[in-house]
Amino acid sequence: MRSPRFLVWALMLVVGWYGVASAQDAAPPAAKPASPPAAKPAAPTYVGVKKCKTCHNSEKGGAQFTKWTEMKHSKAFEVLASEKALAIAKEKGIADPQKADECLQCHVTGHGEPADHFGAGFLATDGVGCESCHGAGSNYIKMKTMQGLRDGTIKAEDVGLKMPNKATCDHCHNEKATGGKFVDWAKDSTTIAHPIPPGYKRGAATEGTEAK
Ligand code: HEC
Ligand code: HEC
Ligand code: HEC
Ligand code: HEC
Repeated sequence: MRSPRFLVWALMLVVGWYGVASAQDAAPPAAKPASPPAAKPAAPTYVGVKKCKTCHNSEKGGAQFTKWTEMKHSKAFEVLASEKALAIAKEKGIADPQKADECLQCHVTGHGEPADHFGAGFLATDGVGCESCHGAGSNYIKMKTMQGLRDGTIKAEDVGLKMPNKATCDHCHNEKATGGKFVDWAKDSTTIAHPIPPGYKRGAATEGTEAK
């Protein structure tokens, strides 16, 4: 049997909880703290490919940035000015594909999102950038965070980093896409692959100087 004293404590706890909860409900918006609690990071913003380049372009680390520049994803905005793009657009009554939502939605990063989702260094002209597939970077780009992700001490979903799968590609490569095709995951993910070489450990004695 629980003692009556326990019940009194339990009741006080419950009443106390409701008191706090209803005080929060009743509080006018102006009384809310100015910044969100530390446990919840601010909504991430797109930082742009140049930020990723600063740490992801050394030969030994896999030169992800250079590999990306060699892929059409980096030219996805440019291609909207091509003869072919203009012809496709003309059929749909679109004058300038580089200004049309109908085209930009799959040819640049984060198109259609509110202006405050984009940091100062972000350029839509960089086409389908790193963050189109890996998620907006502002909450994960610190060296310590990135290393923690690699080491498994930080969870990707807590900082907005995505490890892309076929669903990521389907967002753009679908029946409405220009070619009207979904990706063939095995083949196409290999085409765009930019792995960290096995055994690579940043800062290890064998590592060369970081390319900027
Ligand atoms: C300040 C340096 C720095 C910046 C900036 C940076 N990274 Fe990283 N990133 C790292 C380090 C360090 C690792 C761990 C592996 C390594 O040493 O290369 C890493 C690992 C990763 C991984 C693999 C994570 C895992 O779980 O294995 C991805 C994906 C990644 N970065 C994407 C990005 C993207 C996209 C950007 C830009 C939005 C970016 N990084 C910017 C330093 C950085
Ligand atoms: C079109 C989509 C796409 C774009 C754009 C893209 N990535 Fe990736 N990235 C992937 C996929 C897919 C993987 C492999 C995921 C896996 O192994 O589960 C990957 C993996 C990585 C890894 C981890 C590799 C490893 O061996 O663990 C790093 C680091 C990375 N990307 C950085 C970048 C950077 C930096 C950019 C921009 C310069 C970029 N990515 C652009 C799709 C993309
Ligand atoms: C934000 C939209 C978007 C996402 C997400 C996306 N792609 Fe693409 N992808 C494009 C566009 C647009 C092109 C064509 C660009 C051009 O022709 O200039 C393209 C081109 C490609 C190509 C041809 C590359 C070349 O250089 O020949 C491959 C392969 C490809 N994508 C694979 C993938 C894979 C795999 C994923 C998922 C991991 C993915 N894409 C995610 C929009 C996207
Ligand atoms: C639903 C996503 C999506 C939309 C919307 C979209 N595209 Fe694309 N576009 C792609 C993808 C994905 C590719 C890569 C080719 C493929 O695999 O289909 C591509 C490739 C292209 C190419 C290169 C084709 C080639 O053969 O080299 C051009 C040009 C193009 N798109 C123009 C446009 C124009 C113009 C619009 C607007 C009227 C548009 N796209 C709208 C996804 C899209």
